[in-house]
Amino acid sequence: SEEPSLRPEWLKQYIGQDKVKRNLEIFIQAARMREESLDHCLLYGPPGLGKTTLAAVIANEMDVQLRTTSGPAIERPGDLAAILTALQPGDVLFIDEIHRLPRSIEEILYPAMEDFCLDIVIGKGPSARSVRLDLPPFTLVGATTRSGSLSAPLRDRFGVLCRLEYYNEEQLTDIVVRTADIFQVEIDEKGAHEIARRSRGTPRIANRLLRRVRDFAQVRGNGKITFDLATQALQLLQVDGRGLDHIDHKLLTTIMEKFQGGPVGVDTLAASIGEEPETIEDVYEPYLLQIGFLQRTPRGRMITNEVYHHFKMEVPSE
Ligand code: ADE
Repeated sequence: SEEPSLRPEWLKQYIGQDKVKRNLEIFIQAARMREESLDHCLLYGPPGLGKTTLAAVIANEMDVQLRTTSGPAIERPGDLAAILTALQPGDVLFIDEIHRLPRSIEEILYPAMEDFCLDIVIGKGPSARSVRLDLPPFTLVGATTRSGSLSAPLRDRFGVLCRLEYYNEEQLTDIVVRTADIFQVEIDEKGAHEIARRSRGTPRIANRLLRRVRDFAQVRGNGKITFDLATQALQLLQVDGRGLDHIDHKLLTTIMEKFQGGPVGVDTLAASIGEEPETIEDVYEPYLLQIGFLQRTPRGRMITNEVYHHFKMEVPSE
Protein backbone atom coordinates (compact mmCIF):
# COMPACT_ATOMS: atom_id res chain seq x y z
CA SER A 1 0.00 0.00 0.00
CA GLU A 2 1.08 3.58 -0.69
CA GLU A 3 2.72 5.60 2.00
CA PRO A 4 0.72 8.66 3.11
CA SER A 5 2.23 12.07 2.31
CA LEU A 6 4.53 13.50 4.95
CA ARG A 7 4.17 17.01 3.61
CA PRO A 8 2.04 19.44 5.61
CA GLU A 9 -0.76 20.99 3.53
CA TRP A 10 -1.39 24.18 5.53
CA LEU A 11 0.80 26.85 7.14
CA LYS A 12 -0.64 25.87 10.54
CA GLN A 13 0.72 22.32 10.13
CA TYR A 14 4.11 23.48 8.90
CA ILE A 15 6.64 23.29 11.74
CA GLY A 16 9.41 25.90 12.06
CA GLN A 17 10.39 28.80 9.75
CA ASP A 18 8.29 31.05 11.99
CA LYS A 19 9.40 34.35 10.41
CA VAL A 20 8.64 33.09 6.90
CA LYS A 21 5.25 31.75 7.99
CA ARG A 22 4.29 34.98 9.79
CA ASN A 23 5.01 37.01 6.66
CA LEU A 24 3.39 34.62 4.22
CA GLU A 25 0.25 34.41 6.35
CA ILE A 26 -0.25 38.17 5.98
CA PHE A 27 0.59 38.37 2.28
CA ILE A 28 -1.69 35.44 1.50
CA GLN A 29 -4.57 36.89 3.50
CA ALA A 30 -4.12 40.32 1.89
CA ALA A 31 -4.04 38.87 -1.63
CA ARG A 32 -7.14 36.82 -0.89
CA MET A 33 -9.01 39.84 0.49
CA ARG A 34 -8.19 41.81 -2.68
CA GLU A 35 -9.02 38.77 -4.82
CA GLU A 36 -5.64 39.13 -6.51
CA SER A 37 -2.86 36.67 -7.23
CA LEU A 38 -0.12 36.54 -4.60
CA ASP A 39 3.08 38.42 -5.47
CA HIS A 40 5.94 36.32 -6.85
CA CYS A 41 7.92 34.61 -4.07
CA LEU A 42 11.55 33.55 -3.99
CA LEU A 43 12.38 30.78 -1.50
CA TYR A 44 16.07 30.32 -0.85
CA GLY A 45 18.27 28.32 1.47
CA PRO A 46 20.03 24.96 1.80
CA PRO A 47 18.43 21.80 0.35
CA GLY A 48 15.91 19.77 2.34
CA LEU A 49 14.46 22.64 4.41
CA GLY A 50 11.00 22.56 2.82
CA LYS A 51 10.99 24.89 -0.19
CA THR A 52 8.90 22.53 -2.35
CA THR A 53 6.57 21.84 0.57
CA LEU A 54 6.12 25.56 1.15
CA ALA A 55 5.28 26.15 -2.52
CA ALA A 56 2.53 23.53 -2.27
CA VAL A 57 1.28 25.07 0.99
CA ILE A 58 1.13 28.52 -0.66
CA ALA A 59 -0.96 27.14 -3.55
CA ASN A 60 -3.24 25.32 -1.12
CA GLU A 61 -3.70 28.40 1.09
CA MET A 62 -4.47 30.50 -2.02
CA ASP A 63 -6.90 27.78 -3.15
CA VAL A 64 -5.28 27.52 -6.59
CA GLN A 65 -3.48 24.84 -8.56
CA LEU A 66 0.23 24.17 -8.26
CA ARG A 67 2.25 23.67 -11.46
CA THR A 68 5.75 22.36 -10.88
CA THR A 69 8.85 22.48 -13.05
CA SER A 70 12.56 23.16 -12.62
CA GLY A 71 15.27 25.36 -14.11
CA PRO A 72 17.13 22.54 -15.89
CA ALA A 73 13.86 21.07 -17.28
CA ILE A 74 13.13 24.22 -19.30
CA GLU A 75 15.50 24.08 -22.23
CA ARG A 76 13.78 26.04 -24.98
CA PRO A 77 11.51 29.12 -25.02
CA GLY A 78 8.66 26.89 -26.20
CA ASP A 79 8.90 24.79 -23.02
CA LEU A 80 8.23 27.83 -20.87
CA ALA A 81 5.58 29.23 -23.26
CA ALA A 82 3.68 25.93 -23.06
CA ILE A 83 3.66 26.03 -19.27
CA LEU A 84 2.72 29.71 -19.01
CA THR A 85 -0.13 29.55 -21.52
CA ALA A 86 -1.66 26.55 -19.71
CA LEU A 87 -1.97 28.42 -16.39
CA GLN A 88 -5.35 29.25 -14.87
CA PRO A 89 -5.90 32.62 -13.17
CA GLY A 90 -4.11 32.77 -9.82
CA ASP A 91 -2.19 29.51 -10.24
CA VAL A 92 1.17 28.99 -8.57
CA LEU A 93 3.99 28.11 -10.95
CA PHE A 94 6.80 26.54 -8.95
CA ILE A 95 10.24 26.59 -10.56
CA ASP A 96 12.73 24.59 -8.52
CA GLU A 97 16.44 25.30 -8.98
CA ILE A 98 15.51 28.53 -10.68
CA HIS A 99 19.18 29.62 -10.72
CA ARG A 100 19.74 26.95 -13.40
CA LEU A 101 17.29 28.52 -15.84
CA PRO A 102 19.07 29.39 -19.11
CA ARG A 103 19.60 33.14 -19.48
CA SER A 104 17.67 33.23 -22.79
CA ILE A 105 14.63 31.82 -20.96
CA GLU A 106 14.96 34.19 -18.04
CA GLU A 107 14.31 37.03 -20.46
CA ILE A 108 10.94 35.56 -21.41
CA LEU A 109 10.06 35.44 -17.73
CA TYR A 110 10.56 39.17 -17.12
CA PRO A 111 7.47 40.44 -19.02
CA ALA A 112 5.53 37.37 -17.87
CA MET A 113 6.22 38.24 -14.23
CA GLU A 114 5.85 41.97 -14.58
CA ASP A 115 2.97 42.43 -17.00
CA PHE A 116 1.54 38.90 -17.37
CA CYS A 117 2.34 38.80 -21.05
CA LEU A 118 4.42 36.68 -23.33
CA ASP A 119 6.36 37.91 -26.37
CA ILE A 120 6.85 35.11 -28.84
CA VAL A 121 8.44 35.04 -32.26
CA ILE A 122 6.49 33.20 -34.93
CA GLY A 123 8.23 31.97 -38.06
CA LYS A 124 11.82 32.34 -39.19
CA GLY A 125 13.88 34.68 -41.33
CA PRO A 126 12.33 37.73 -43.05
CA SER A 127 8.75 36.60 -42.38
CA ALA A 128 9.31 36.20 -38.65
CA ARG A 129 7.10 38.38 -36.50
CA SER A 130 6.67 38.95 -32.83
CA VAL A 131 3.31 38.58 -31.15
CA ARG A 132 2.32 39.46 -27.63
CA LEU A 133 0.05 37.05 -25.74
CA ASP A 134 -1.82 37.94 -22.57
CA LEU A 135 -1.37 35.53 -19.68
CA PRO A 136 -3.64 35.04 -16.70
CA PRO A 137 -2.30 36.60 -13.50
CA PHE A 138 -0.21 33.98 -11.71
CA THR A 139 2.28 33.61 -8.87
CA LEU A 140 5.80 32.48 -9.64
CA VAL A 141 7.37 30.68 -6.70
CA GLY A 142 11.07 30.17 -7.36
CA ALA A 143 13.34 28.03 -5.23
CA THR A 144 17.11 28.14 -5.10
CA THR A 145 19.93 27.03 -2.87
CA ARG A 146 21.92 30.07 -3.89
CA SER A 147 20.16 33.43 -4.16
CA GLY A 148 23.53 34.92 -5.10
CA SER A 149 23.62 33.14 -8.43
CA LEU A 150 20.27 34.52 -9.60
CA SER A 151 20.69 37.40 -12.01
CA ALA A 152 19.83 40.75 -10.43
CA PRO A 153 16.96 41.49 -12.87
CA LEU A 154 15.31 38.16 -12.04
CA ARG A 155 15.80 38.53 -8.30
CA ASP A 156 14.39 42.06 -8.40
CA ARG A 157 11.11 40.83 -9.88
CA PHE A 158 10.21 38.81 -6.79
CA GLY A 159 8.04 40.81 -4.40
CA VAL A 160 8.45 38.35 -1.52
CA LEU A 161 11.84 36.97 -0.47
CA CYS A 162 11.87 34.09 2.01
CA ARG A 163 15.11 32.81 3.45
CA LEU A 164 14.68 29.33 4.95
CA GLU A 165 16.90 28.54 7.91
CA TYR A 166 18.17 25.37 9.52
CA TYR A 167 15.71 23.95 12.07
CA ASN A 168 16.58 23.67 15.75
CA GLU A 169 16.49 20.34 17.60
CA GLU A 170 13.12 21.07 19.18
CA GLN A 171 11.46 21.75 15.82
CA LEU A 172 13.09 18.66 14.28
CA THR A 173 11.91 16.56 17.22
CA ASP A 174 8.36 17.78 16.56
CA ILE A 175 8.74 16.88 12.88
CA VAL A 176 10.04 13.38 13.73
CA VAL A 177 7.15 12.81 16.16
CA ARG A 178 4.67 14.02 13.52
CA THR A 179 6.14 11.77 10.82
CA ALA A 180 6.26 8.77 13.19
CA ASP A 181 2.59 9.37 13.86
CA ILE A 182 1.86 9.29 10.12
CA PHE A 183 3.93 6.06 9.87
CA GLN A 184 2.01 4.73 12.88
CA VAL A 185 5.27 3.76 14.55
CA GLU A 186 5.70 4.14 18.29
CA ILE A 187 8.48 6.54 19.33
CA ASP A 188 9.38 8.16 22.63
CA GLU A 189 10.58 11.74 23.11
CA LYS A 190 14.20 10.72 23.65
CA GLY A 191 14.24 8.51 20.59
CA ALA A 192 12.79 11.34 18.50
CA HIS A 193 15.27 13.82 19.94
CA GLU A 194 18.22 11.55 19.13
CA ILE A 195 17.17 11.37 15.47
CA ALA A 196 16.58 15.15 15.45
CA ARG A 197 20.01 15.86 16.95
CA ARG A 198 21.71 13.97 14.13
CA SER A 199 19.71 15.45 11.26
CA ARG A 200 21.86 18.45 10.38
CA GLY A 201 19.03 20.90 10.95
CA THR A 202 17.22 19.39 7.97
CA PRO A 203 13.72 17.82 7.96
CA ARG A 204 14.45 15.77 4.83
CA ILE A 205 17.37 14.14 6.66
CA ALA A 206 15.31 13.68 9.85
CA ASN A 207 12.58 11.87 7.91
CA ARG A 208 15.12 9.74 6.05
CA LEU A 209 16.84 8.70 9.28
CA LEU A 210 13.46 7.97 10.84
CA ARG A 211 12.66 5.55 7.99
CA ARG A 212 15.92 3.67 8.53
CA VAL A 213 15.53 3.60 12.33
CA ARG A 214 11.98 2.32 11.83
CA ASP A 215 13.35 -0.56 9.73
CA PHE A 216 15.83 -1.35 12.46
CA ALA A 217 13.12 -1.24 15.15
CA GLN A 218 10.92 -3.57 13.13
CA VAL A 219 13.60 -6.19 12.45
CA ARG A 220 15.89 -6.00 15.48
CA GLY A 221 13.57 -4.55 18.11
CA ASN A 222 9.92 -4.74 19.06
CA GLY A 223 8.88 -1.99 16.66
CA LYS A 224 9.18 0.81 19.18
CA ILE A 225 11.77 3.57 18.75
CA THR A 226 13.54 4.42 21.98
CA PHE A 227 16.75 6.35 22.68
CA ASP A 228 18.81 3.14 22.84
CA LEU A 229 17.37 1.70 19.68
CA ALA A 230 17.82 5.00 17.79
CA THR A 231 21.42 5.28 19.00
CA GLN A 232 22.28 1.74 17.88
CA ALA A 233 20.59 2.17 14.50
CA LEU A 234 22.26 5.52 13.80
CA GLN A 235 25.64 4.08 14.69
CA LEU A 236 25.07 1.32 12.17
CA LEU A 237 24.09 3.95 9.60
CA GLN A 238 27.42 5.70 10.20
CA VAL A 239 25.76 8.93 11.19
CA ASP A 240 27.87 10.47 13.94
CA GLY A 241 26.81 12.45 17.02
CA ARG A 242 26.59 15.73 15.06
CA GLY A 243 24.81 14.04 12.14
CA LEU A 244 27.88 14.06 9.92
CA ASP A 245 28.10 11.22 7.40
CA HIS A 246 31.05 9.67 5.62
CA ILE A 247 31.21 12.39 2.96
CA ASP A 248 31.38 15.12 5.62
CA HIS A 249 34.11 13.09 7.31
CA LYS A 250 36.00 12.69 4.06
CA LEU A 251 35.78 16.40 3.37
CA LEU A 252 37.00 17.36 6.84
CA THR A 253 39.77 14.75 7.12
CA THR A 254 40.99 15.60 3.63
CA ILE A 255 41.43 19.27 4.57
CA MET A 256 43.07 18.11 7.80
CA GLU A 257 45.45 15.57 6.35
CA LYS A 258 46.16 16.62 2.76
CA PHE A 259 45.99 20.37 3.20
CA GLN A 260 47.20 20.85 6.79
CA GLY A 261 43.83 22.26 7.84
CA GLY A 262 43.58 24.63 4.86
CA PRO A 263 43.02 27.04 3.31
CA VAL A 264 42.21 25.03 0.20
CA GLY A 265 40.20 26.14 -2.83
CA VAL A 266 36.84 24.45 -3.35
CA ASP A 267 37.79 23.08 -6.80
CA THR A 268 40.96 21.48 -5.45
CA LEU A 269 39.03 20.05 -2.52
CA ALA A 270 36.27 18.74 -4.79
CA ALA A 271 38.79 17.00 -7.07
CA SER A 272 40.54 15.34 -4.18
CA ILE A 273 37.36 13.86 -2.66
CA GLY A 274 35.67 13.08 -5.98
CA GLU A 275 32.62 15.33 -5.62
CA GLU A 276 31.34 18.21 -7.73
CA PRO A 277 32.32 21.67 -6.41
CA GLU A 278 28.61 22.67 -6.63
CA THR A 279 27.62 19.72 -4.43
CA ILE A 280 30.17 20.75 -1.84
CA GLU A 281 29.03 24.36 -1.96
CA ASP A 282 25.28 23.71 -1.95
CA VAL A 283 24.92 20.54 0.11
CA TYR A 284 27.89 19.92 2.42
CA GLU A 285 29.43 23.28 3.20
CA PRO A 286 26.42 25.24 4.47
CA TYR A 287 25.86 23.02 7.51
CA LEU A 288 29.57 22.71 8.32
CA LEU A 289 29.79 26.51 8.20
CA GLN A 290 26.66 26.81 10.35
CA ILE A 291 28.07 24.59 13.13
CA GLY A 292 31.44 26.31 12.96
CA PHE A 293 33.45 23.36 11.64
CA LEU A 294 34.41 25.17 8.46
CA GLN A 295 35.42 28.73 7.64
CA ARG A 296 35.43 30.49 4.31
CA THR A 297 38.43 32.71 3.71
CA PRO A 298 39.48 34.61 0.58
CA ARG A 299 42.10 31.92 0.00
CA GLY A 300 39.77 28.95 0.45
CA ARG A 301 38.20 26.70 3.04
CA MET A 302 39.73 26.08 6.46
CA ILE A 303 38.69 23.75 9.23
CA THR A 304 38.39 25.08 12.79
CA ASN A 305 39.74 23.62 16.04
CA GLU A 306 36.22 22.29 16.67
CA VAL A 307 36.93 19.62 14.06
CA TYR A 308 39.97 18.31 15.93
CA HIS A 309 37.88 18.20 19.14
CA HIS A 310 35.10 16.38 17.29
CA PHE A 311 37.51 13.71 16.05
CA LYS A 312 39.14 13.59 19.51
CA MET A 313 42.47 14.66 18.04
CA GLU A 314 44.99 17.11 19.35
CA VAL A 315 44.85 20.59 17.85
CA PRO A 316 48.13 21.03 15.93
CA SER A 317 50.29 23.89 17.16
CA GLU A 318 51.09 26.82 14.86
N1 ADE B 1 7.87 17.49 7.22
C1 ADE B 1 8.96 17.96 6.63
N2 ADE B 1 9.14 19.25 6.91
C2 ADE B 1 8.14 19.62 7.71
C3 ADE B 1 7.78 20.83 8.33
N3 ADE B 1 8.53 21.94 8.22
N4 ADE B 1 6.68 20.85 9.08
C4 ADE B 1 5.95 19.73 9.21
N5 ADE B 1 6.25 18.57 8.66
C5 ADE B 1 7.33 18.50 7.91
